[in-house]
Amino acid sequence: DIRTPAAAASAVAAPTSKSTVDIDWDNIGFGIRDTDYMYVATCQLGTEEWRGSLRPFGNMTMSPSAAVLNYGQGVFEGLKASRTADGRILLFRPEENAARMTYGAGRMSMPAPPKDLFLDAVKQTVLANEAWIPPYGKGSLYIRPLLIGTGAVLGLAPAPEFTFLVFVSPVGSYFKTGQMSPLDLYVEEVFKRASPGGSGGVKTISNYAPVLMTQLNAKKQGFADVIYLDAVENKYVEEVSSCNIFVVKGKTIVTPELKGTILPGITRKSVMELARSKGFDVSEERVSIEDLLAGDEVFCTGTAVVISAVGSVTYQGKKREYHTGQPGPVAQDLYKTLTDLQTGRSPDTLGWTI
Ligand code: COI
Repeated sequence: DIRTPAAAASAVAAPTSKSTVDIDWDNIGFGIRDTDYMYVATCQLGTEEWRGSLRPFGNMTMSPSAAVLNYGQGVFEGLKASRTADGRILLFRPEENAARMTYGAGRMSMPAPPKDLFLDAVKQTVLANEAWIPPYGKGSLYIRPLLIGTGAVLGLAPAPEFTFLVFVSPVGSYFKTGQMSPLDLYVEEVFKRASPGGSGGVKTISNYAPVLMTQLNAKKQGFADVIYLDAVENKYVEEVSSCNIFVVKGKTIVTPELKGTILPGITRKSVMELARSKGFDVSEERVSIEDLLAGDEVFCTGTAVVISAVGSVTYQGKKREYHTGQPGPVAQDLYKTLTDLQTGRSPDTLGWTI
């Protein structure tokens, strides 16, 4: 039980072994592997006092009545650590994740771990699991901070106790077809991901299970994923199940504006800045499905998907293809610029890496 003194006593100091584990680094895909350590901290409601430490990665126990299990009181984050060619380990914009978790915690009536604790927990967990960071050029270590209501409730109320966890897993390409293989997307017209006034704009755990049904249906028909439309007019593009979306037309790039229903992606924000620095006119606005179909190029962004080119979009039974079989040039160029920064191949003049 992570909450007992005995469990606290099993907390460990960061290990010293740095050799890389022996797995097939060329075929890691995007899945969970049991690594060596995780970070766990708890806080009692109303105290704002977090007590945490590293401990061996493993199962947790909690009351069947835990708020997260019954009422979905939880938010998560996603970020990555990458090895550089000269042996350093880089985190990409972790303060942004700390800030987004704080925002999401407020929306979900939870105390947020302070920024310094968040960053320290991420760094400790990455270093403790250093052997699981893929070799340079073979992928990255995906880091999953999680904030959940672990205290027991029955009536609908915030949990009396919260747990902040960080665990990691080595990952390669998110989509099975490979990082730069263009995606075939399906435009969902019946089911919605989020509605105005709801929680679509925060990274709450409860935003993700409802998309599985539409995603699985689309996958059965051979699509990689689903594009969601707005819940009011059913005509404006929102996002894909696990990532944001961009449309390129000439030297203009647009992405749906943040208005509470769209996740404020850190890769989304970074790509907007990088594209502006390359001379594109980048704007956040309402993007109709017609605008998307009329674009020269479409791509998705996210921590897990990085930048993934879209090969086709199917809407009302018609398939619109972009750069048939090839990733579009803008997506390719932005992918290179972003991953060069994340893996230390180019100097970080923006101060985005730690
Ligand atoms: C991420 O990109 O980090 C996410 O959290 C999306 C998740 C569905 C893998």
